[in-house]
Amino acid sequence: MRDILTAPFVKEMMDTTANMYRLGWDERNGGNISYMLEEEEVKEYLDLDKVIRTIPTGFQADSLIGKIFIVTGTGKYFKNVKDDPETNLGIIRIAEDGTTAELLWGYKDGGRFTSELPAHLMSHMARLSVDPLNRVVIHSHPTHTLAMNYVHELDEKKFTHTLWEMCTECIVVFPDGVGVLPWMLCGNNTIGEATAEKMKEFRLVVWGMHGIYGAGRDMDETFGLIETVEKAAQIYMLTAHLPRVNTIKDSEMVELAEAFGVKYRKDFLNL
Ligand code: 13P
Ligand code: ZN
Repeated sequence: MRDILTAPFVKEMMDTTANMYRLGWDERNGGNISYMLEEEEVKEYLDLDKVIRTIPTGFQADSLIGKIFIVTGTGKYFKNVKDDPETNLGIIRIAEDGTTAELLWGYKDGGRFTSELPAHLMSHMARLSVDPLNRVVIHSHPTHTLAMNYVHELDEKKFTHTLWEMCTECIVVFPDGVGVLPWMLCGNNTIGEATAEKMKEFRLVVWGMHGIYGAGRDMDETFGLIETVEKAAQIYMLTAHLPRVNTIKDSEMVELAEAFGVKYRKDFLNL
């Protein structure tokens, strides 16, 4: 059996959490990541018959039965993952009953997966139903995105449109737009279900006055989606209080989307 600390998926979790912490997006224990793994890649490092303990999830995830995820721990700080992955991360498999997580590795101090597991696993189910290659869900509290929530209408058409106007590449990177949820209590099945509903349509979902969720086929795609929204939100926050002299016009966004061959939300433009 190979040393799990050398597994590429553990390294990706360590690098991504460190990066997000360094960017200031994930203060204290803010943010969480779940990454679906292939059984084939995990069994090189772990005996899949050895369950350390079981943890109830509190919801049904029948379409994920037997699926394995590496997930950040609840209350754990992104800045600490790199130095102690076995305490701050865990590898879980959804058991036959669809509602129990079997711990295969990690959460060494007796901890458990993120309190946002409902939103993560429900989002995985929703994304997999529209894109069978989806693997990663990331939740974060990026500074400018969050700031924008306080000064911009929380309407998904208007919010997406403003972001698209802020950087030329935005409509190309997230042509499907950004879903928006109002402020809701976090860490429960209700917000999980609402997030998953949006995830059928969007790879990005803003949680009003809280943060953002991104979903994608790998860590780079998912991180890049959030990073691009955050960049656009930063430009917005740097300019919103100043007179707007120039902007990217809707006709130019159409030109971009057509040139790059992306399927975009036409109804989010004012044509
Ligand atoms: P956890 O520490 O449970 O992952 O929660 C952090 C967070 O961002 C809640 O939304
Ligand atoms: Zn959060």
